[in-house]
Amino acid sequence: MSVKTDKNIHTSVLLQELVWAIDIRDDKQNIIVDGTLGLAGHACEMLQKMNDGDILVGFDADERNLGLAKGRLEKTKTQLGLDVEIVLIHSNFELLSEKLWEHGISSVTGIYYDLGVSSMHFDEAERWFSLRLEGPLDMRFDTRSWKTAADVLNYYEEKDLFGILKEYWEEPHARKIAARIITSRKQNKFVTTNDLNDFLESEINSHIKTKTRVYQALRIEVNGELDTLKSTLAQAIKLLESDGNIFVISFHSLEDRIVKQIFKRETRDCICSDLICSCWHTKSLRLVNKKPILPGEIEQKENSRSRSAKARHAQKI
Ligand SMILES: C[S@@+](CC[C@H](N)C(=O)[O-])C[C@H]1O[C@@H](n2cnc3c(N)ncnc32)[C@H](O)[C@@H]1O
Repeated sequence: MSVKTDKNIHTSVLLQELVWAIDIRDDKQNIIVDGTLGLAGHACEMLQKMNDGDILVGFDADERNLGLAKGRLEKTKTQLGLDVEIVLIHSNFELLSEKLWEHGISSVTGIYYDLGVSSMHFDEAERWFSLRLEGPLDMRFDTRSWKTAADVLNYYEEKDLFGILKEYWEEPHARKIAARIITSRKQNKFVTTNDLNDFLESEINSHIKTKTRVYQALRIEVNGELDTLKSTLAQAIKLLESDGNIFVISFHSLEDRIVKQIFKRETRDCICSDLICSCWHTKSLRLVNKKPILPGEIEQKENSRSRSAKARHAQKI
């Protein structure tokens, strides 16, 4: 089932599946981390299961979303008459261990991620990701970071532009697009989404799929999304208490591949290919579902964004 967090704002994907997976124990204090708080749709539902004395920690790189989430969480907490401590952290989840440590937390009962952007991001022209609305080519989750999409387009070398388009999306026109960006920016720098849309339409005669891939590749590059995901998952697995659950919802194959590979690696003892093993790696996870969890037919019908979602669930040994 999918529940709207607010009137037409953001519909949380795989809501019940996630909340079910993050098991809450009644015999101990639970410390639950939401790595991508967004508008707190999952977190508010999570609160319903939690007990007095538990702690809910929410990370978000986007300060605005964190502010909106705060109000919702407080309201839900009051409605439930619940004494759960809520800790909100404005940070990229790649700093997971460090930020938790600053709050005196060195292990967690459960952790989950709902990756990518919230619907609000697509509807907010000033900063974000929409190829529908005119706005600056920004695409940063965190406005404190220095690199925007315009910087990538205006200052990256051709081989690096080609690299991100090819590596991230296997974009068939990657070489052509990269070369033409270099020529085009000599005339006029890229400033707004309209500049990029006009460029793609006139120079590449682009199909909507190409446009979407270019936007996604820029967003991934600006936010370092693949590296930060690898880093946070490794930290999350270390932080989990035994029997603790990790649940990750991803929205494209690049993210899902990372989750799948890291989970798989952690379900094996030896990860080295030497004949005589020297890696000393011991398995730390068991997969709860071998196959990814997908939204049901009704959810896919009601929320088109859910159609590309895949979730993976594992448990610490
Ligand atoms: C899909 S939304 C989460 C929606 C939320 N689960 C809900 O139901 O309302 C993803 C959120 O994660 C945040 N985010 C994305 N990458 C992040 C990162 N590397 N570190 C911290 N927050 C991140 C985005 O700013 C966005 O608010």
